[in-house]
Amino acid sequence: MIADSRIAGLMSAEVDMFIKSHPRSQEESTRSQSSLLAGVPMPWMKRWAGPFPVIADKAVGGSIVDIDGNTYVDFCLGDTGSMTGHANAPISQAISDQSQRGFTTMLPSSDLSWVANHLFDRFGMAKWQFCLSATDANRFSLRLARQLTGKPKIVVNDWCYHGTVDETLVILNEEGKTVSRPGAIGPQVHPGVTTIAVPYNDLSAMESALEGGEVACVLMEPALTNIGIVLPQSGYLEGVRQLTRKYGVILILDETHTICAGPQGASRLWGIEADMLVIGKTIGGGIPVAAYGMSADIAHRVENLMHGHDLDVSGIGGTLSGSALAGAAIRATLTHALRQEDFDVAIPLATRWSKGVQEVIDQYQLPWTVQQLGCRAEYWFSEHPQNGAQAAASVNDSLESYMHLYALNRGILLTPFHNMALMTPFHSESDVDLHTSVFTACVQELIS
Ligand SMILES: Cc1ncc(COP(=O)(O)O)c(C=O)c1O
Repeated sequence: MIADSRIAGLMSAEVDMFIKSHPRSQEESTRSQSSLLAGVPMPWMKRWAGPFPVIADKAVGGSIVDIDGNTYVDFCLGDTGSMTGHANAPISQAISDQSQRGFTTMLPSSDLSWVANHLFDRFGMAKWQFCLSATDANRFSLRLARQLTGKPKIVVNDWCYHGTVDETLVILNEEGKTVSRPGAIGPQVHPGVTTIAVPYNDLSAMESALEGGEVACVLMEPALTNIGIVLPQSGYLEGVRQLTRKYGVILILDETHTICAGPQGASRLWGIEADMLVIGKTIGGGIPVAAYGMSADIAHRVENLMHGHDLDVSGIGGTLSGSALAGAAIRATLTHALRQEDFDVAIPLATRWSKGVQEVIDQYQLPWTVQQLGCRAEYWFSEHPQNGAQAAASVNDSLESYMHLYALNRGILLTPFHNMALMTPFHSESDVDLHTSVFTACVQELIS
């Protein structure tokens, strides 16, 4: 095992190197302390390895240049928001064209009905609504599920992440009770009131949660991605589908990250039929949009609710949702990116990345593993976890920070929350090979 003292010693050299090569980022970060909460525009930006965040200047394709002129191969891609590639030309053009024609009018634009038809073809959900973020799409889907079933509770997977939706910021504690997850700020109510968390890949826990008859819906990712990639065991998703049907519970699949599996997401790839489906982040090419779709039956029942004087205060929708800008951006994204031909480039790159990492693990006989889902890949400091709790237990913060900063200092950005890399068709084999050589050198430092 790699001793903490070894990591700490190596880390201090990396921090010095980082500070020397990022003088302008440091200056600007110091200035930001007086005006931005904790010096950053939003909390996750504090998670980057290093004493202050790198300040971006521009991002194009699969790379980012910072204000000090350092260039990075960007395997973070805005945590999936820019999976299309940064500043993807036809998407940028469509957004720019729309900017001459008005961004938001409170009237439908024809782009979004084109988009809804396209989303039907991709994901099989009959009818769609639009909003600003995957968080909103999840929140609105939960409301609809509660309204339609008259049931108060939701089920999610232990250690899931579905955005800043209060009821989903949960884990199971040691006594098997649903509690707020570490880090959740100011929960509205104790989450045990609203939510039952169940371990991923555990059908008997799922059945116990549903058989009590108080659950409106199960909200889940087809594979966990936010505590790292945890793939479904054979029969797990089919079992969840059967149980949700058996107990009359709505199954909502959140494909916001698992779209990395292919153009129709993981659920269609694996043959699992959702009742409702959420897709955010990447479908706007990087601008804030999301969509949620539903089966014809659910749509029919929801449409019965969509009338009357008070529809504007239903708790669903939002002033800037479904704007003309959103329509133009999503239409261009679905036309020019996230297509089979894009995945045909990006998935082999993720396979190459995984193979490079695996060879180093094998060479140095490390007790680590690599996991891949479509164009997303990551390494673990453990065996492949089978559920969120196992995944959380295998996290090694100091080792992870060191490896991320080592990579960053040599021109590679990984997703800051775990050892994850996402590929766009704009990455190249040499980008991937750069990662392999930096990873190799980092491992050699750690074990020498
Ligand atoms: C699966 C999943 N759903 C929803 C969200 C929330 O997305 P947003 O922060 O854009 O609302 C995330 C964010 O990481 C996510 O990973």
